[in-house]
Amino acid sequence: MNVLNLSAECYPVAKAGGLGDVVGALPKYLKELGVNAMVAMPFYDKKFVLENTFESVYKGNSKLGYRTFDFDILKEANNVLGFELYLVKIPDLLDRPDIYSYPDESEQFIAFQLAVLEWVLSTNKPVDVFHCHDHHTGLVPFLLKYSYKFNSLANKVSVFTIHNAQYQGWLGWEKLYYLPDIDGTKGGMLEWGDCINPLASAIKCCWAYTTVSPSYLEELKHNSNRLEFLFELEPQKGVGILNGIDVDVWNPATDPMLSFNYSKTTVKANKQKNKQELCEKFGLNPDKPLITFIGRLVAEKGADTLVELIREISLRNQDEFCFLILGSGEKEIENDLKELQTYLKNYNCYIGYDEDLSHKIYASADFILMPSRVEPCGLNQLYALRYGTIPIVRSTGGLKDSIIDFDNEGGYGIRFDNLELMEMVIAIRRAISLYQDQKRLDQLRKLMMGLDFSWKKSAHSYNQLYKRLTKST
Ligand code: ADP
Ligand code: GLC
Repeated sequence: MNVLNLSAECYPVAKAGGLGDVVGALPKYLKELGVNAMVAMPFYDKKFVLENTFESVYKGNSKLGYRTFDFDILKEANNVLGFELYLVKIPDLLDRPDIYSYPDESEQFIAFQLAVLEWVLSTNKPVDVFHCHDHHTGLVPFLLKYSYKFNSLANKVSVFTIHNAQYQGWLGWEKLYYLPDIDGTKGGMLEWGDCINPLASAIKCCWAYTTVSPSYLEELKHNSNRLEFLFELEPQKGVGILNGIDVDVWNPATDPMLSFNYSKTTVKANKQKNKQELCEKFGLNPDKPLITFIGRLVAEKGADTLVELIREISLRNQDEFCFLILGSGEKEIENDLKELQTYLKNYNCYIGYDEDLSHKIYASADFILMPSRVEPCGLNQLYALRYGTIPIVRSTGGLKDSIIDFDNEGGYGIRFDNLELMEMVIAIRRAISLYQDQKRLDQLRKLMMGLDFSWKKSAHSYNQLYKRLTKST
């Protein structure tokens, strides 16, 4: 079975968040199941590209409206990721340092999708399943079905994974002419809410769509940024599969980014050593429970609630805990978090993106707070479990599917239901009390570190889905 994943991100080539982690890990685990999973992504001018060897396997050109663009398909030569990796390079379009936020982002991703299909078509590359991730690749299911140009690929299976339905890649109708030779009667398959909506189009045209947790699949019917009705219309195509984690990259026993590696038996002592080092760097007290937040500073993650929460609990319980934030996002939230530094002790924040620091924080912190409004899966809580760090989560989406409150049998985390200040304060107070019971804390850390949230189980579910769909072709 040949599965070509199309994605804007893939760790360690380029990552902005969990999408990169998933696409960098799932293919490895699928390969262990005998699936030839490959990844095609845009070329970015990044460290990974400079440090690895690539060979050109196909040069072609395609049209984006009236403009013809040349493209080059570069294959990573030494299989360093454990699966075939292809980069699509397009001069002046896909050869830049950043993944997102260019003014011509829609042209970039449409050209990427067209180039991949053109390459597969021209070379007869064996592909049984096109597995597309998020709206950046959401036009592929439509193009496969309704573009005469790609007619000979029309019976190929397309699977679409929704990592986050908040972002849908909306395009004005003037961009319709970028899509080549399409069946003019099928414009409705691109449309949702009076514009071209790549995420909605993918849901309509794909053979099956998946969400990154079962709870999120249900939640989308009631809360999906105006796609609610669409999810009600297409329920039979949806499958919820909880993400896993790459247990080789995220392993406290071998993680090269940590000063002190540890396993279940050494977690207590070595977590404290890592914590001491980190606290020294950030001016925090290593003898207090360390609570962290890592992630995008946006409302979806509940990041806007952090300032009030930290202020409230710090003023009441000044000396009982430390708080450290790593993140970047909305300027207003960033500024508010920085301002807290001016008058709170035992608090610090690092505004920016730093992979190395994130590993150090997972290893050093006692608790990680995830007050998400929406969380399709969430990987932070899964990394935290592996590093013996107790997640404090709002019960939503993948957080609900992966974290059991420690008050319940077999539980290990702290859950709260509503994004209300008092509920969050209570959750933090429970964390502080738990920290005071070091014996219980140690038991919970060992329990969490023994849980298996690797991709093994979920990769199997994807494989089952591919098999079911390809059987019907
Ligand atoms: P999302 O993809 O919605 O941002 P996830 O929980 O799925 O959320 O994944 C977030 C990933 O990005 C994790 O690997 C997390 O460690 C990482 N991450 C988020 N923000 C930062 C940051 N500022 N620096 C380093 N890593 C970060
Ligand atoms: C998205 C979601 C996050 C999920 C990640 C990987 O970015 O916001 O919850 O874990 O994708 O699937």
